[in-house]
Amino acid sequence: MSNSSSPLLEAINISHSFDYSIIENTDFSINRGESVSIMGVSGSGKSTILHIFATLLKPKEGEVRIEKKDIYSLSKNEILKIRREDIGFIFQQHYLFRGFNAYENLEISSILSDQKIDEKLLEKFGIENILTQNIGTLSGGQQQRISIARVLTKRPKIIFADEPTGNLDRESARNIIDSLIEHTKTEGCALIIATHDLQLALRCDRSFILEDKKLKRNGAIRESN
Ligand SMILES: Nc1ncnc2c1ncn2[C@@H]1O[C@H](COP(=O)(O)OP(=O)(O)OP(=O)(O)O)[C@@H](O)[C@H]1O
Ligand SMILES: [Mg+2]
Repeated sequence: MSNSSSPLLEAINISHSFDYSIIENTDFSINRGESVSIMGVSGSGKSTILHIFATLLKPKEGEVRIEKKDIYSLSKNEILKIRREDIGFIFQQHYLFRGFNAYENLEISSILSDQKIDEKLLEKFGIENILTQNIGTLSGGQQQRISIARVLTKRPKIIFADEPTGNLDRESARNIIDSLIEHTKTEGCALIIATHDLQLALRCDRSFILEDKKLKRNGAIRESN
């Protein structure tokens, strides 16, 4: 059965709290081929909501559906399968294996997901010439690009990127965002980025701001730019 007409991910009436309420009665959906950004002040809950959408954190209320499946009602094994095969999470702090070279870090992802390393992807991210270098000898930006390529090697259906360009200069940050957006279009996957950078956020198809515990459309800002 084809699911192509329904959203790839749909979140319905999500609420979450830790010591106090962070997210209240929020809906969200994203289609294949679409890129969406989420802005918001530090502590507003961007990482929390990404974790909720990405199978990593069960919300106190509401449902998250990926390809129509209510993920938090699934068994532990089913949810792990979705996390392993369908979700790519780019963390702000990249967790590359030090002591291995860049290529070996990509190989691990390639073996686990049974997908080939895509040479074109390496060129697109400008990392084809640093593959034999040990992780410890790479610059912060190079490490970040390897870690993004490692996530994309899995060919995930949904890519979550939590401040993926936090430590990069503007031009490198823009290149990375553009490559992620282009990858999303060509692969027909979906991209959800949390960022503090308005200019980068507005490069996505839609932009939201997490404010007053809800996701609000960043549309007004886009129109005035
Ligand atoms: N596991 C947790 N236990 C308790 N409180 C938490 C936990 N995770 C996050 N919080 C709190 O929830 C709030 C939202 O955190 P979150 O990390 O989602 O914010 P953020 O918008 O991603 O911020 P930043 O821009 O600084 O990354 C913060 O007040 C944080 O302290
Ligand atoms: Mg965060």
